[in-house]
Amino acid sequence: MPIINDVLARGAYIMQKDLFEFEENLAKYLGVKHCIGVADGTIALMMGLRAAKVTEGDEVIVPSHTFVATAAAAHHVGAKVVLADCGRDHLIDPESILKKITKKTKAIMPVQLNGRTANMDMICKIADDHGLKIVEDSAQALGSKFKGKFAGTFGVSGSCSFYPSKTLGCFGDGGAVFTDNDEVADYIRLLRDHGRSPTTGNVIEWGYNSRLDNVQAAVLNYKLKTYDQAITKRRALASIYTERLSDIPELLLPPGPNSDPNHFDIFQNYEVEAEQRDALRKHLDDNGVKTIIQWGGKTLHQFKDLKLNDDVPRTEEMTKKFFLLPMNTSLENSDVEYICDVITKFYKKN
Ligand SMILES: Cc1ncc(COP(=O)(O)O)c(C=O)c1O
Repeated sequence: MPIINDVLARGAYIMQKDLFEFEENLAKYLGVKHCIGVADGTIALMMGLRAAKVTEGDEVIVPSHTFVATAAAAHHVGAKVVLADCGRDHLIDPESILKKITKKTKAIMPVQLNGRTANMDMICKIADDHGLKIVEDSAQALGSKFKGKFAGTFGVSGSCSFYPSKTLGCFGDGGAVFTDNDEVADYIRLLRDHGRSPTTGNVIEWGYNSRLDNVQAAVLNYKLKTYDQAITKRRALASIYTERLSDIPELLLPPGPNSDPNHFDIFQNYEVEAEQRDALRKHLDDNGVKTIIQWGGKTLHQFKDLKLNDDVPRTEEMTKKFFLLPMNTSLENSDVEYICDVITKFYKKN
């Protein structure tokens, strides 16, 4: 790949121009002041929490339906993770957030799951009313918007992951933090590079070795140029699912791409709830359609060893039915039409 050859020929591995160009381009794309490339999406969340001054003894509200990384980030800064339930769109439910707030609550971590941004008007109002910080996990939602504002640009900071299966994936691990706040940006630049001042090299904070590799940044910079086309394709595929499957009462689909002008969803995943889920998945498999269930089929409250609260009844119900239908840019419209045929036949027979 010429881009990689170019980086290798220059011996430009760490904190070189490709990284800074990518950071500038992604910040411009999102309309945010700062983008700081880091080693992965999990450390991006930890750094965001540290910048929000979340520390030992604090409580952080995290949705029950997310990758363990969201909760792990809060745990590793010393906070207690408090799970909130999810709504019908599978995102954190603002009503549930309200019920989980205590005197110790310091921050809310909305997770913009499956490529959809939560109702950030409601969440920002809750945060304002209760003096809480927002540290957004937009690992799955780069390019998604609520009321025209990009996921990752609400709150103290937002972050994303460039894990290979993400909508903007690199050739390994990678992540970024976004913020409009100059102080937060300076702090995260310190944290990602051993706490060293980028100007003097003086160590002024306990930091991490957590930079985004220059070669990954070069690849991401290249892919960013056509990222909007990838989103358009995903939304077109989602439209077919909506059109073909909405009338099947046994299925709960994600909101369609044009169903609500406040939301612009990018469909990182197409997560549904299905009656007779396991039989449907087997039927799809028998017909050549592979499907998966996020997090191995368990949400956070079901990982008993983590000892988290489990009063999240909507999530508990959802885990009996949820799974992902195929969604990626290598699918053709005809592939999705075929998947819809297979599903329609299944429910007609049963
Ligand atoms: C919702 C969510 N949060 C956080 C992460 C963590 O990102 P990473 O794997 O880059 O650390 C992921 C991705 O795997 C994710 O899906």
